[in-house]
Amino acid sequence: MKSRVFSGIQPTGLITLGNYLGALRQFVDLQDQSDAFYCIVDMHAITLPQDPHQLKERIHDLASLYLAVGLDPQKSTLFVQSDVSAHSELGWILQCVVHMGELSRMTQFKEKGEGKEVVTAGLFTYPALMAADILLYQTHLVPVGDDQKQHLELTRDLALRFNARFGDTFTVPDIMLIKQGARIMSLDDPSKKMSKSNPNPGSRIEMLDPPDVIRKKVSRAVTDSDRQIRFDPQEKPAVSNLLAIFSVISGQSIDELVAAYDGKGYGDFKKDLGEALVAHLSPIQARYEDIRQSGEVERILQQGAEKARQVANDTLANVKERVGLGG
Ligand code: TYM
Repeated sequence: MKSRVFSGIQPTGLITLGNYLGALRQFVDLQDQSDAFYCIVDMHAITLPQDPHQLKERIHDLASLYLAVGLDPQKSTLFVQSDVSAHSELGWILQCVVHMGELSRMTQFKEKGEGKEVVTAGLFTYPALMAADILLYQTHLVPVGDDQKQHLELTRDLALRFNARFGDTFTVPDIMLIKQGARIMSLDDPSKKMSKSNPNPGSRIEMLDPPDVIRKKVSRAVTDSDRQIRFDPQEKPAVSNLLAIFSVISGQSIDELVAAYDGKGYGDFKKDLGEALVAHLSPIQARYEDIRQSGEVERILQQGAEKARQVANDTLANVKERVGLGG
């Protein structure tokens, strides 16, 4: 039997190169050898305020991007979280399994809640819903970026706790992190991860940035003090981040790149990186426009939701039985 893969992305803004290199690209690589479910996690998005009209649009945009990067609905199941109500139901049940102390220790909750006047209970219990997403599909492998590691560890703990209390119910999932690209840093500050929510658009490359914007953002990316191009995340975090991006995008190893730019300055290096990014992203952008105009996206998401419901409802029925819920 093929192993089951599950992952999700929030439709909360323009998808960044970080999302792509840390997660989305792996989704494509995994679809041939596994039974993959890729979700647009709109219910996670509303843990922070969203404009309803914009949210709807962004769900559609993210689905189009899933298809544009090469996810094939014949191979992978693509669906929207709120179309499968089992996610909310298991999310609630897992809220009654997770401990307050565990949720309080989640660094993402602390970061996202920081400085906000009001923090919703949903933002706090978010990891229980994320665990439900994964556990409903009896998932073996979850491809994500490094920032989701803590949530994945909690998901594993919840699966083990539930299984111990109610009998074997959930597969305990493994995290899949790639070596280069699991944590892409901001272009303006290599101590912060590249993120959709950073107020400075120059801090990130967005998947739909036009070529000139990509070139400009790369040319303005901060570098480290000396002029040497070498991989040393401690001493040279900015250049190391650019090298990691270049390596994943071009398929060349870091060592090959370091050798190729030996004795050359940052200018040549950044120019070539900009061009490599444009060459990689332009075909994705062209496909994205075609897909958006094709009118196919709704149908694909509906079919995906139907397939997802079958798997998710089986797990949920078993969970309810074990917990003693229902008439
Ligand atoms: P989200 O929407 O913030 O990010 C989607 C994916 O992109 C990865 N990522 C990065 N990877 C490398 N470098 C970066 N700078 C970078 N920024 C983001 C994230 O690690 C993630 O893999 N909680 C999740 C969504 C979610 C989910 C799930 C994921 C909900 N349910 C079930 C997996 C399984 C989130 O907010 O991701």
